Order: sequence, then C-alpha cells, then structure tokens
Amino acid sequence: MKLMVINGSPRKNWNTGMLLKSAMDGAGAHGSETRLVHLYELNYKGCISCFSCKLKNGKNYGRCSLSDDLTPVLRDIEECDSLLIGSPIYFGDVTGELRSFLERLLFQYLEYNRQRSSTFKKRIRCGFIYTMNAGEDQAEIYKEVIFSRMEGVMRRFLGETRSIYATETLQFDDYSLYVSDAFDPEARLRRRKEEFPKDCSKAFELGEWLAGE
Ligand SMILES: Cc1cc2nc3c(=O)[nH]c(=O)nc-3n(C[C@H](O)[C@H](O)[C@H](O)COP(=O)(O)O)c2cc1C
Repeated sequence: MKLMVINGSPRKNWNTGMLLKSAMDGAGAHGSETRLVHLYELNYKGCISCFSCKLKNGKNYGRCSLSDDLTPVLRDIEECDSLLIGSPIYFGDVTGELRSFLERLLFQYLEYNRQRSSTFKKRIRCGFIYTMNAGEDQAEIYKEVIFSRMEGVMRRFLGETRSIYATETLQFDDYSLYVSDAFDPEARLRRRKEEFPKDCSKAFELGEWLAGE
C-alpha cells in the first residue's frame, strides 16, 4: 500500500504537520509506504483553464498538461492506494496553496459529459486533517459548510473520504512575544498538553484506516 500525504500548511512541523506525522505512523504501523509532500516547498499554479484535459482526442485528455513542480506529485497520486491531505483553516477555508493544488488534482478528472463522470477510474481512500484557532462551536459550522462539501467532492472523484480536525491549536511557542490578548496562553498550553495528544491518536487511527484497516 502506498499513501500519499499532502501538507497544505506553510509550517512543516506545526499543528497540521504533527497530525499528518501521526497519521503516517498509523499507516506505517500497518505496512504502508508513505510519501510526504510539503506544498509550500513547490512552485506551481492552480488550474489555468487551458482545457487541454478536455480536448477531444487530445493526448492529455483527463490529465493536467501544465508542467511544474506539481506534475510529478499528480502522477504519484495516480499510482497511490490512498491519499491524505492536511490544512490549517485560513479565513474559513483551506489554505490558498491547497486550493490551487485541489484545482489541479480534481479538474483534470472531471468529464464535461452529461453524466459529469470522472476519468480517475480506481477508488482510493482519502483523509482530511484540518487545524484551526477556533473552538468547537465554530468547528461545527466548518464541518457542515466546508468539511462535508470537501468530503463530497473527494468521494465523487476519488473515493471514500473521512475527516478529522483539531481546534484551539497552539499558534506560537511564546504568546508573550505577540499581540494576542484575544487568547489565553495558559489555556492554549494546557490544551496542547491534554487535548492535542487525543487529536494525534485520532490522526493515527485515520492513518490506520488509510492503510486499509
Ligand atoms: C492567514 C491565517 C488565517 C487564519 N484564519 C483562521 C480562520 O479563519 N479560522 C480559524 O479557526 N483559524 C484561522 N487561523 C489559525 C490557523 O488555522 C491555526 O493556527 C492552525 O492550527 C495553523 O496550522 P499550523 O500550525 O499547521 O500552521 C488563521 C491563521 C492564519 C495564518
């Protein structure tokens, strides 16, 4: 089994990165081979609407023809058995880089026929990990509006999709250095010690599921 992991956070080893690592450990515990890609290390664009992937008898029909750092990543996803994507919430959505990645990943597969079918012929398991500053109440809204919509899109194009999220994440190592009166640093640190390990366990379990368990 090969699991592709996409980190849509600019901070490689912070909240999103740590949860992705736990999920990779979960998948690895069941023999999955994992490949981690940090989107912010790559140079690429979102879909440029060239429609090469929709050209009748075109050599790139069903495939993104843009050539940049994302090209080999998209090819690897075609070969993988499961896909895990992580993103912080930025202004109520996934990060801009992740949106650009998703445009490139998904639009190539969308067929403009009456059935709106997909050229991605196999079904793979997909996972999403979100992290956010907000608390549980706001997360419930994100769940209804963003996470379920994303699950629907992924399910339609790629396969069964599950999501988990972590709330009230630690944003800085030292809150005293930043203007951050809106937050209670002690409560955040406590949460990091007491709740975040539970989030990591959920991520581990998601990884196990992505490995086929
Ligand atoms: C540009 C920006 C926008 C953000 N917007 C939101 C938001 O709309 N809702 C929220 O709950 N958190 C928001 N956050 C906080 C991050 O989602 C949160 O700190 C996240 O855990 C960071 O992930 P990381 O540790 O992997 O970098 C924002 C952070 C940044 C930098």
